[in-house]
Order: sequence, then structure tokens, then C-alpha cells
Amino acid sequence: MAQYGNFAYIYDQLMDDVDYEKWVDHIENLIKLNNIKVKNILELACGTGNITIPLTRRGYDIAGIDISEEMLDVAYNKSIEENTTLVLLEQDIVELDFDIYDLDCVLCACDGFNYITSIEDLDKVFTKVHQQLKDGGIFVFDISSHFKLKNILGNNFMGQSRKDLSYMWTNYYDDQIQLLEMELDFFVKIDADDDEEDNLYEKYSEVHLQRAHKEEEIIKLLEKVGFEDIKSFGDFELENVKEDSQRVFFTAIK
Ligand SMILES: C[S@@+](CC[C@H](N)C(=O)[O-])C[C@H]1O[C@@H](n2cnc3c(N)ncnc32)[C@H](O)[C@@H]1O
Repeated sequence: MAQYGNFAYIYDQLMDDVDYEKWVDHIENLIKLNNIKVKNILELACGTGNITIPLTRRGYDIAGIDISEEMLDVAYNKSIEENTTLVLLEQDIVELDFDIYDLDCVLCACDGFNYITSIEDLDKVFTKVHQQLKDGGIFVFDISSHFKLKNILGNNFMGQSRKDLSYMWTNYYDDQIQLLEMELDFFVKIDADDDEEDNLYEKYSEVHLQRAHKEEEIIKLLEKVGFEDIKSFGDFELENVKEDSQRVFFTAIK
């Protein structure tokens, strides 16, 4: 069962409470804090373009890569509506293969790296990112924290019933292997022509797997592949990561 297949088409509805402009502000603040001038950005796991499109609006040259054809399809359609041109590539970032080197910035926002479920694969991604950046270029990314996957999402059940969309989200977490399995069942209202069929819903299911990376594992790996001046921040603050931070941002310089 593919991750982000049909789910792609309701992803933005489910994320409608996320303030992406604030997210992009924070990314820009992290870049400024490092005194790096950025014009071009390669965004990994760009999804439906929720970070990509605001960055384009702010004047950056940006290319987005994602493994899900469906997520990229949504991103592409949104960019057409916005009259923006996005460069989008369907690729597994573990096998990252991008023509342009000497990049100013590589970015990965909102859990992209939690979907890289082994340290060996994360090592491959970080090594490739290091190769793609120019000397002095910046790598910016964030992950859901080990605390969040273990204590907030892990072994928890969540659900929501909305007018046109309902979902059930059942999670299983194993701290030995640091993996969170998420079973997602969602029910999407079918557009009906007559009242009789007005209450028909289509059910889709997906299983997602995320790894609860620890802050120290990430820092060690960044150092190993050659990054310098590695910094980490908790949530959307320019402050150290706390024990209960749910999101951890990293910056690292080539
Ligand atoms: C939670 S979504 C985040 C999307 C986007 N960054 C955002 O902020 O809305 C995670 C994304 O990671 C992508 N992804 C997961 N594993 C991937 C891989 N190995 N290579 C490329 N993209 C991947 C998924 O397809 C999905 O679009």
C-alpha cells in the first residue's frame, strides 16, 4: 500500500490548520541567523508544495523533489492556479540525483526525513545533500521529534469527523527500533447528483512508517558526512531543543 497515494488529494484539507507562512518565516530566520545568502533552493519531500509555493512567491528559485506522484500532481495544479512555475521531480530522496550542484540551500520540511526509516538511508541522503551544496551552502530541515513520535503519536488513536471527510488514525510505536506505524483510514464524501446518494463515502487506507530520529543521532550523522556549524532548535523558537519539543529544526553548513 503506497504512502501518499489517494491521501495526497485530502492532505491539504487535513493540514488546513497549519500556518505555512509562519513555517516559511522560521526557515528564513534560520537562514538569516547563519548569515547565508540564499537564492536557489532544492526542497526534498516537497509534497503538495505548501512550503515550495510561498518560497517561490518570496522570490527564491526552487525545485521540489518528492517520491509521490500524487503529491506532486497536487503541487503542480496549485502552481498553475497561482500562475507560478515550479520545477518538480519525482524521485526517492535516498537515491537523490539532481543535475545542479553548487546549491545555496537544501531544505526538507515537515517530517520528510521521518519517512527515511533507517540510519543507513539517512546517511545516504545527507551525503548526497552535502555533495549538492556549494561550499558555505546551508542545509535546513525539521523533523517530528523522538518525544512526539514516542509520547504523543505512539500507541495512540486519533479521529475526526468533518462534513466531507472523516478519518481514523491508529498508531503503533516500537521504541526498540524507533519506528512508528500509522494506519490511516479515511472516508471521503462522494459528490452525488441526487439526495438519495448524498451520504455515500469512499474509504481509502494507507499505512505510513516513520522513524523517531534522536537529535544526537542526526547531529552525529551530519558531522560524519562533513557538515560544520550544526545547530538545532526546538519547535518554532530560536532556542535550544527541550525534552518535550515536538519539532526539531536543524541547520548545517557545508
Ligand atoms: C508530511 S509530508 C510533507 C510535505 C511537505 N514538505 C509539506 O511541508 O507539506 C511528507 C512528504 O515526504 C514525502 N516522502 C516520503 N518519503 C520520501 C522519499 N523517500 N523520497 C522523497 N519523498 C518522500 C512524501 O511523499 C510526502 O510528500
